[in-house]
Amino acid sequence: MVESNPNEIVIVKSEDTKINSVDFNNLMFGRVFTDHMFVCDFENGKWQTPKIMPYQPMTIEPSARVFHYGQAVFEGMKAYKDDDGKVFLFRPNENYQRINKSAKRLAMPEFPEAYFFEGLKTLLQLDNEWIKPGLGNSLYIRPFVIATEPAIAASPAEAYRFMIICSPAKAYYNKPVRVLFAEKYSRSANGGVGFAKAAGNYASQFYPTSLAQKKGFDQIIWTDASTHKYLEEAGTMNVFFRIEDKLITAPNNDRILDGVTRKSVIQIAKDLGIDCEVRNVSVSEIKEAAKNGALKEIFGAGTAAVISPVSDFEHAGEIFKLPENEDSYAKLFKEKLTHIQHNLAEDKHDWRYEVK
Ligand code: COI
Repeated sequence: MVESNPNEIVIVKSEDTKINSVDFNNLMFGRVFTDHMFVCDFENGKWQTPKIMPYQPMTIEPSARVFHYGQAVFEGMKAYKDDDGKVFLFRPNENYQRINKSAKRLAMPEFPEAYFFEGLKTLLQLDNEWIKPGLGNSLYIRPFVIATEPAIAASPAEAYRFMIICSPAKAYYNKPVRVLFAEKYSRSANGGVGFAKAAGNYASQFYPTSLAQKKGFDQIIWTDASTHKYLEEAGTMNVFFRIEDKLITAPNNDRILDGVTRKSVIQIAKDLGIDCEVRNVSVSEIKEAAKNGALKEIFGAGTAAVISPVSDFEHAGEIFKLPENEDSYAKLFKEKLTHIQHNLAEDKHDWRYEVK
């Protein structure tokens, strides 16, 4: 946590709104942005007065280090509105802690806690109309930090820009996903940046994922870089495996993102008395379980993806189709989680954070 005094945020309101041109029933993820954005620059060793201004393009020098070395980190959060118009964030302190953990790993300055929460609050108040009530609706929030200093020496920048932009969102995947277990490419390595929400972690997946997409798959479930024997995460989401009635998910380490949805699923499983093992899970164990009928489900868990069931997976040329379950855990966890997020269920762990 960085101590700071939340200076007044300078607010320049948008003179008009784009909201009437948006079809909220047909949203593609991350294509439409709200009327305002939050901007705070780091210069001369400190974060300057934050601003909220109309969402607009901005000018950055071509030599800014973010373009050359990918010194950039981000977060994914969502705001939800209940039927009384109250607005909630879900465990936002986790995102605050994580963006600073990511920033530290990329030699970037920590962002002050008061600026983060004041910025979010003020932005969401200004763009309140963009948060639609009802299960399945949310406002996706993307805080991010980029190195803006115009200098191309390969070393950490001395100037940064912290921003928050928001985009109304529905489901990230609108049908069960087909996945490929990684055999050749890797997402992250021991001692690397896999645990951080570093922009480059995502860019490095685009090429192998596009190869998988050509074969008809939506996503790759990454395996450990050294042996490709253990299943780790899917890049847009952490993954859970259900063998009979037991859930299994990989432990956090320096290769895997410490997902907020992931840790919430583990806690909800505990609350429901569902056995959830956090341990290494091998490709061979999952293939074996698929062959003998013990593998009931695989699902992903993430802020954008929420809970996304997997329909089938491929490994070493073999395709395994997952059964349809009447008592699907994916459905159960999605319901439990989204009901807490939308203020429709008891919040016994204090995960909801009302924006007021
Ligand atoms: C999120 O779930 O917020 C993520 O960051 C995944 C994103 C790459 C869509």
